[in-house]
Amino acid sequence: MSKRISDKMEKILNTQMTREAYQAQVYLSYASWAEVNGFPGIATFLYGHMQEEREHMFKILKYINDRGGESKIEAIKAAPKNPKNLGDCFEQILQHEIDNSKEIDKIVNLAHEEKDWSTFNFGQWFVEEQIEEETLINDIIDKYHLAAGEGKGGNSNLYDMDRDLASASQEGDLPREENL
Ligand SMILES: [Fe+2]
Ligand SMILES: [Fe+2]
Repeated sequence: MSKRISDKMEKILNTQMTREAYQAQVYLSYASWAEVNGFPGIATFLYGHMQEEREHMFKILKYINDRGGESKIEAIKAAPKNPKNLGDCFEQILQHEIDNSKEIDKIVNLAHEEKDWSTFNFGQWFVEEQIEEETLINDIIDKYHLAAGEGKGGNSNLYDMDRDLASASQEGDLPREENL
């Protein structure tokens, strides 16, 4: 098969593939933390999101191989330290997603520079996905502040939030989707 991506692009895509595997580790570690700290619903949600990140990893692996490159399975760096509390947990996740969005932008920038419109198009899927994920986590942070900030009712509100997240969608609720 002829190689249809540049060596530079192959390398940056490989790095991103490993980065998505790292994102999965982040969700896995925070899910486990939530589970042992009395938030089973949030744990279920985060375990579910771990799967999404693994799918992203696999999507990039397939793309590299389909374009005549060769994916390299590399070491994944260790998951971050446990969060201090639930609020910190969500803030850390948001920061990881924002950092990841910036990495996706690098791929799209390179594709644009190289006039590699296939990878540019492929990258757009991730650009949209990152908008959804940042929205999703921002919405959860808003809910958390509402639940945790209700004074005496705080604990029972957090209980409700935990229960609700067990069955929450993994997709960000964007206006453009509501219009479809
Ligand atoms: Fe991802
Ligand atoms: Fe993500």
